[in-house]
Amino acid sequence: MNEELKKKYHAKYTAAKQKGVKFWPDIIYKDLLVSFALFILLIGLAAFVGVAAEPKADPNDTAYIPRPEWYFLFLFEALKFVPGAIEWVGTALIPGIAVLALIALPFLDKNPSRYWKNRKIAISVMSVIVLGIVGLTIRAVITTPEQEETTLAGSIAEQVVQGQDLYSIYCAECHQPEGEGGEVVGVEGLEGTFIKPISSQDEMWTRTDQTLFNIIDMGQQDLGMPPYGLGYGGELQRAEIESIVTFMRYTWDERAEIPEDAIVGIPALVEGEVPSYEVHISAVAKRYCVSCHREGKENNEYLMGSYDEILNTGINAGKNVIAGDPDASYLMQTLHRQTVIGSDSNEIGAMPPSKDLKTEYIDMFARWIEAGMPETAAEAAALSTVAAPAEETAEP
Ligand code: HEC
Ligand code: HEC
Repeated sequence: MNEELKKKYHAKYTAAKQKGVKFWPDIIYKDLLVSFALFILLIGLAAFVGVAAEPKADPNDTAYIPRPEWYFLFLFEALKFVPGAIEWVGTALIPGIAVLALIALPFLDKNPSRYWKNRKIAISVMSVIVLGIVGLTIRAVITTPEQEETTLAGSIAEQVVQGQDLYSIYCAECHQPEGEGGEVVGVEGLEGTFIKPISSQDEMWTRTDQTLFNIIDMGQQDLGMPPYGLGYGGELQRAEIESIVTFMRYTWDERAEIPEDAIVGIPALVEGEVPSYEVHISAVAKRYCVSCHREGKENNEYLMGSYDEILNTGINAGKNVIAGDPDASYLMQTLHRQTVIGSDSNEIGAMPPSKDLKTEYIDMFARWIEAGMPETAAEAAALSTVAAPAEETAEP
């Protein structure tokens, strides 16, 4: 830039500065322009993008986690630091003080300089408020549990199958595989408690689906029944609890007509047939063992959720199932209700702890180990002396 130009520009600048910018109409005009642009943008967003609708409001849905819109999240989060009795401090006092501070700011800091180092009060008050809002919003987003999806579990048959699986995992350890109840064995905190049957006609005829749902959702905590609904600190979604109820209803209530394809039995073995993990053992384990032998159970390290786990986990890994030698396998000994001394010299009691496994299933485990634990149906068929029967099923 040459000197000439520089001077000219300087003169222009001084003149403009002396004249000043008028609030009306200059500033108002600019504001209007920006407001108008934003307005057009909003209309565009509303027309072409829209807002994702949440599911229809359902007063029965206890799992719904209500949350304010994102721009109010910080207020909501701030409220969590205030005890309920003095709620007004969080809802009115603190936000009130913050707003007053913002209003007072131009009076507290009248410095005309625009340089930030000369505006310590204004900058610090503003920073505290902005950081507070941003920080609280982030904290709220992080600590908000994910809203569960409300997916339906499909046909009744699918629900029964899913419900059966969930029941085996979450309920069988206390209520037993067929809901027959009895003395609780091997469950911390409830050892020796006597649980009444939940599969009896009495129970089924006097409890509606909604009642069963609520019991599972909220638990009966004074009696030792834990809550399972996400809304009550449990780990099951509504659709999953519904599946469990469907399973209970169609399996235990003789008035309910079970759809043909919903009967989930464990295929019976015929003479000379070798069971496979895929078809037989996984089904028995799922129904009678996995409720205790799975990840997250503190009192034992033997997982039975997969082929690999059955063979290779546990304090006594390697001795639980010994290919070709059922008698020496700890698993068989526990099923025969002998006390086994494990490698950490702890006693392992009878399995399942509360009562005998059905003889046909004990026999299934024995034949499987005897044959060297075949994993797939094809492997098992190759070891069998007879072809597997096509459609026979054991009593469910
Ligand atoms: C830790 C043990 C435990 C587990 C696991 C458990 N319950 Fe319970 N449940 C109880 C106890 C204890 C009661 C109280 C009933 C009693 O004392 O006979 C109960 C009560 C119930 C009842 C109510 C009986 C009535 O009064 O009508 C139902 C139904 C039930 N449970 C279903 C389930 C289902 C389904 C699951 C799995 C999602 C489950 N429970 C998991 C311990 C348990
Ligand atoms: C009610 C809970 C429960 C059920 C159901 C259950 N177990 Fe166990 N099991 C345990 C506990 C707890 C241990 C740890 C040892 C102990 O305290 O007796 C264990 C240990 C074992 C062990 C020793 C594993 C090792 O390496 O330490 C074997 C084998 C076993 N169980 C087999 C089975 C089989 C097979 C089934 C199903 C037919 C079954 N269990 C069902 C609770 C259960």
